[in-house]
Amino acid sequence: HSRDSSGAHVVEPEGRDMEFNPDQITFLEELGEGQFGKVHKAKAHFVHDQARSSTMIVAVKTVKAHASSEVRDDVLKELRMMMRLLDPHPNVVTLLGYCTKSDPVMLVVEYVPNGDLLSFLRNDRAARNVTYANLHTESRTLQNTDLISFAWQVSKGMCYLASKQCIHRDLAARNVLVGKNKTCKVSDFGLARDGPEYKKVKDSPLPLRWMAPETLSIERLYTTKSDVWSFGVLLYEIVTLGSTPYPTMSAQQAALEVQMGMILQKPTHCTGDLYFIMENCWHFLPDERPPFSELSAALSRLVVDEK
Ligand code: ADE
Repeated sequence: HSRDSSGAHVVEPEGRDMEFNPDQITFLEELGEGQFGKVHKAKAHFVHDQARSSTMIVAVKTVKAHASSEVRDDVLKELRMMMRLLDPHPNVVTLLGYCTKSDPVMLVVEYVPNGDLLSFLRNDRAARNVTYANLHTESRTLQNTDLISFAWQVSKGMCYLASKQCIHRDLAARNVLVGKNKTCKVSDFGLARDGPEYKKVKDSPLPLRWMAPETLSIERLYTTKSDVWSFGVLLYEIVTLGSTPYPTMSAQQAALEVQMGMILQKPTHCTGDLYFIMENCWHFLPDERPPFSELSAALSRLVVDEK
């Protein structure tokens, strides 16, 4: 503990006790299956003193029962990465705690109620295709302002990650969660690392359709600028309401073409302004791509224009 100028106690982030006791957690339904284990909705119980206790709904990631030590290491790496992102940002899923003394290891994160952005977009597309209009489908349908706002929010989350030297490595609509009031939160730091390096992803297919040419190349280079490339692909997913990028190609074919300089075409319903931003994300040379701060500023102007 240290004191600020007002004399009040300030708890340093490092000093926060974030270790959960396994019996503080009551598991509820399964939310999904991640790369190295499952994600459950859960109730976390806190005892403040003899008179006061409280509960909170959280999401808990656990490692598969027979996980290798390598997988366990990966979870601990994800944890270490998330520990750098402790000052909460509205567009990044916040770590609430962990349980490393337990086996399996658990990560306790903020519960985000409306599922992943890819399913959210695809559900909206399905709702639009329903021929009869009823109140429910009407209220579901996303407006252009919503779509631009999703893009802007993700760019702000990525700005924050980049400012903490965090490279995501798997930015895609499936790894963005949707919260209350259509808030987008960047999630799944399973692959996130803090420096450009080679990393073979064990037992999981590479996200080829989201990868930059330099990441697809033999160097396997990951930087914040390769995250910017993936962000451009995420914009494509948003404007197409969840289409698979390079829809006519196999992932391997798309990867080869991207290494030869191909980029995604402008989708039918995409404005020139938005496609201009996407094209900038897809400069072949990483240094030519804009930083997330610039993308965020450009998208905020489009949000204002839509209003
Ligand atoms: N699925 C994966 N992670 C989640 C989270 N934090 N909240 C809700 N659903 C999730």
